[in-house]
Amino acid sequence: MSMRSIPYILAFGTVLVLGISCGKNDPPPDPCASVTVVVSGTTMNPASGATNGSILATGSGASGLTYSLNGGTFQSTGQFTNLAAGSYTVTAKSSAGCTGSASFTLTNVVSCNTVTIVVNPNPTGVTPCVNASGSITAAASGGTAPYTYSLNGGVFQSAATFASLNTGTFSITAKDANGCTGTQGSIVVGTRSAGPLFTAVRTLIQNNCVSCHNATTANGGVNLSNDCAIVSAKDRINVRAVQGTPSPMPTSGLLPANDRLAITNWINAGGRVTD
Ligand code: HEC
Repeated sequence: MSMRSIPYILAFGTVLVLGISCGKNDPPPDPCASVTVVVSGTTMNPASGATNGSILATGSGASGLTYSLNGGTFQSTGQFTNLAAGSYTVTAKSSAGCTGSASFTLTNVVSCNTVTIVVNPNPTGVTPCVNASGSITAAASGGTAPYTYSLNGGVFQSAATFASLNTGTFSITAKDANGCTGTQGSIVVGTRSAGPLFTAVRTLIQNNCVSCHNATTANGGVNLSNDCAIVSAKDRINVRAVQGTPSPMPTSGLLPANDRLAITNWINAGGRVTD
């Protein structure tokens, strides 16, 4: 060794000594500091009262993973079988000792053989002259909430009301939280009957107007001989027969006050056949 290399060795030695002194004061680096072990998985629920449930857990984020159920012995796979209903924690541990865990809940599978779901339908008929204005609201019972509902075998929805229906016969199936179903068929959506306000107006129109406003003779282009025609002409009826502008209807002079009041009351209530 030449004299020339001595300073280098000395310098090296100094670095080494410094390194050791640092190691004595700082804690050793944590091998798991930047490691996140994530556990996910799928479950199979046990039959009612049985212990045939299972969890298949998978870990990621580190290598050499082994798995433990509820703090038990670590095993090489994430599959745990012969489980009863309950809550479980699966912990995955890497070869470096880094861990992550997830919780799984197993519930008993209910056999639908012992479940009778009753669907109680409450149909609302179509409002005359208003297309697709019928509806059915169903109430299910006998199973486990929440229920979903299907109309005529269609897609299940969480809302219990089916609106926008025309007249007809329908069936509703309810499905409970366990997938058990019950169906009520022969649900009739009919037509709502005429209300008293409309009935009074129809009577006075038949007595005072239809002779000049029918399918054959529709003076001013207005036919008042059927219910829907009366409904759709209600604003014009109001102008001519209640206000009398520009001239009264009937042409012979305004109706008695109680008849005009009957028209006003009907229009204020909504001007529908059902009012
Ligand atoms: C004797 C025949 C006669 C009777 C009864 C009669 N109308 Fe008329 N109506 C007419 C004639 C004719 C016109 C067209 C001329 C006009 O508009 O004044 C007309 C026009 C109308 C119009 C359309 C004009 C507009 O304003 O848009 C309405 C609405 C109307 N009548 C409502 C009624 C009502 C409601 C009654 C009953 C309360 C009635 N009419 C009774 C003859 C009659």
